[in-house]
Amino acid sequence: MNSFYITTPIYYVNDIPHLGTAYCTIAADVLARYERFLGKDVYFLTGTDEHGEKIQEAAEKKGTTPQKFTDEVSKHFRDTWEKLNITFDDFIRTTEDRHKKTVLNLIQKSLNKGDIYLGQYEGWYCVSDETFFTESQLVNGKTPDGKEVKKIKEENYFFKLSKYVPLLKEHIKKNPDFILPESKRNEVLSFLEEEIRDLSISRTTFNWGIPFPKNPKHVIYVWFDALTNYVSALDPLNNPKKFEKFWGTEKNPKAIHLVGKDILRFHAVYWPCFLMSVGLPLPKRIFAHGWWTIEGQKMSKSLGNTIEPIAFTEQYGQDAFRLFLFREFSMGHDGDFNLKSFKERSNADLANNLGNLVSRTLNLIDKNREGIVFDKPIDVNSDAAVLEIYNEFNKLCDLYKTTDVMEKFEFHKILTDVFKILNLVNKFIELKAPWHLAKDATKKEELAFVLNASAEAIRLSSLILSPFIPQTVNEILKRLGQEDSGISALKWGAGKKSKVTHGAPIFMRLQ
Ligand code: MSP
Repeated sequence: MNSFYITTPIYYVNDIPHLGTAYCTIAADVLARYERFLGKDVYFLTGTDEHGEKIQEAAEKKGTTPQKFTDEVSKHFRDTWEKLNITFDDFIRTTEDRHKKTVLNLIQKSLNKGDIYLGQYEGWYCVSDETFFTESQLVNGKTPDGKEVKKIKEENYFFKLSKYVPLLKEHIKKNPDFILPESKRNEVLSFLEEEIRDLSISRTTFNWGIPFPKNPKHVIYVWFDALTNYVSALDPLNNPKKFEKFWGTEKNPKAIHLVGKDILRFHAVYWPCFLMSVGLPLPKRIFAHGWWTIEGQKMSKSLGNTIEPIAFTEQYGQDAFRLFLFREFSMGHDGDFNLKSFKERSNADLANNLGNLVSRTLNLIDKNREGIVFDKPIDVNSDAAVLEIYNEFNKLCDLYKTTDVMEKFEFHKILTDVFKILNLVNKFIELKAPWHLAKDATKKEELAFVLNASAEAIRLSSLILSPFIPQTVNEILKRLGQEDSGISALKWGAGKKSKVTHGAPIFMRLQ
């Protein structure tokens, strides 16, 4: 079955979309678009995480009910992603019925298995991190990040995490690409070497959550509630076919969870153990991305330095923003978002390199060849520069099609290669100076060769770039008169004879 499942974390509704959440959502969008380009049936899930003490507190502060509060902020997330042209297939909210039912069903399965028991919890709890800390983890009485904690002593349900740790270790060792990047995989493995305690999975100190089966004094701890979204969106209770199609099987798992590095442990340790307990296959991959700083500083509400994605893209364009996110930093590493590099990148890659090539090539075709392109096969062996470009494209197209690079989020590798080739093409154009060839009636054949080769390079790079800068690529393919943008078109020489149109520059230089 040619299906593909990609998820983002579900975002807490006590904040609004910012650079960090946009980054993860756009990265998932890039991969979803890529898989659709390959012809797969894609399910791309995002959503909002709406239960828990901090949401309850945020609603109280606003003088409203948690339900009204979450309705509003969740809608804001959804609207933002729609405005950013994120092609999600489903948007899940943890306050929806379909979700609550699945959570209760899975908790019940784990209870039946004997993996959940009632015990006493004593420890330090940080509301803003929704996380417990042991005495020895605290630094000067606060979390290692300096956040407030409070002492908690209460009756909790516990999940027998320790029971599944040996199995999980074995799985991680057998499947080197289960947790990526490798550095993060190693971090998880060394965490699993420490003594792992059973996990508290219920609370009695607040009530904005899903009541525990047969003991409604307790609500289910946010992380168990939240993680289950990846399953509940596929509606296993009512639609087992859909579930199997996108969740996959033990032998052929499908789910790729993209998460920030701060929430890797929940996804790479707690979630798989819980899935083992309820008898569901594990996801195929969990990829942890790095964090952005802004102009060298940690992004924070109090510094007021967050980037609001709608305002930013209205000013600078969605594609320039999307490209920048993946062009300079590899996704496993942290990156710095600064306006100067952003503008330099956009000007170099989009205005000068790609934009200029498109303008020159299409103008010349329009003026000197009656707009006709891809009318003759391109004999790549007749010119060393074209042969090099052709060879580079062959390598890159092969790499791109394997899925290995894209599904490991090595986006910057692909982008680096495309823009390298586009540089070669620009050099080739400079060298051949088709504007001179056009003035010489005896050079018609050579002119056709140069312009067709350049147009072919533009067409192929556009197809490869289409998940990253979809609006720009649409426009370029339209101007090139190429409609079919599926995978079969991704080979040298597949351009269809057509008539080009040319218009305003596709990218303006940013000052
Ligand atoms: N609700 C949980 C996730 C539950 S998933 C079952 C949560 N939500 S969050 O809204 O706080 O964070 C969502 C994501 O934003 C995390 O993956 C986090 O890594 C990411 N980012 C927050 N700030 C970021 C940056 N400065 N840079 C990149 N990503 C960052 O955690």
